Amino acid sequence: MALSKRPAGPGLPETLLGADEIRRRVSGLAREIEADQPEGRELLCVGVLKGAVFFLVDLVRELRLPVAVDFLQTSSYGSSSEPGEVVIRRDLELPIRGRDVLLVEDIVDTGHTVETLLTTLRLRRPRSLRLCALLDKPERREVEVEIDYMGFTIPDRFVVGYGLDHAERWRDLPYVGVVEV
Ligand code: IMP
Ligand code: MG
Repeated sequence: MALSKRPAGPGLPETLLGADEIRRRVSGLAREIEADQPEGRELLCVGVLKGAVFFLVDLVRELRLPVAVDFLQTSSYGSSSEPGEVVIRRDLELPIRGRDVLLVEDIVDTGHTVETLLTTLRLRRPRSLRLCALLDKPERREVEVEIDYMGFTIPDRFVVGYGLDHAERWRDLPYVGVVEV
């Protein structure tokens, strides 16, 4: 494995979760997901663009299962501090009826995004539908969400890195760090 291109340091977001810690947890999540997936059945992993891409790629490479990958993207009307209606602005390419689907998200904050996505996907009659989120910020929750596989619970801070951005910056950080917003 190549050395991280930008380890934590001056001028960079303060580390909340280090790259090694994330790697270990992603492996742990993969083991949990494998344990729940019936033998021989393909798992369709659906990543929420763009933040979940980095996590999804690492996760599916860890999964010792037949997997397929697809993506969708949402937009939320209203500011991030005041979430409005969540709409799917780029839909899946693949049909999910009758399939085992794992929704993969970077972070569950107020819960509106995953709640809307799960409700929408459920209407398409997948065989099973589960949620895997790298991060959970429970203090900010506005709608109840059941997270089947959760990487880390974090405090109410704005985080970046490992796919998460602030105004499109910092997605490429190999760790999760805190920024003041
Ligand atoms: P929710 O609908 O409020 O749960 O928000 C989920 C979305 O808000 C996530 O998919 C992220 O794109 C974004 N988000 C929430 N908290 C953070 C954060 O701390 N850093 C970066 N993005 C965040
Ligand atoms: Mg997102």
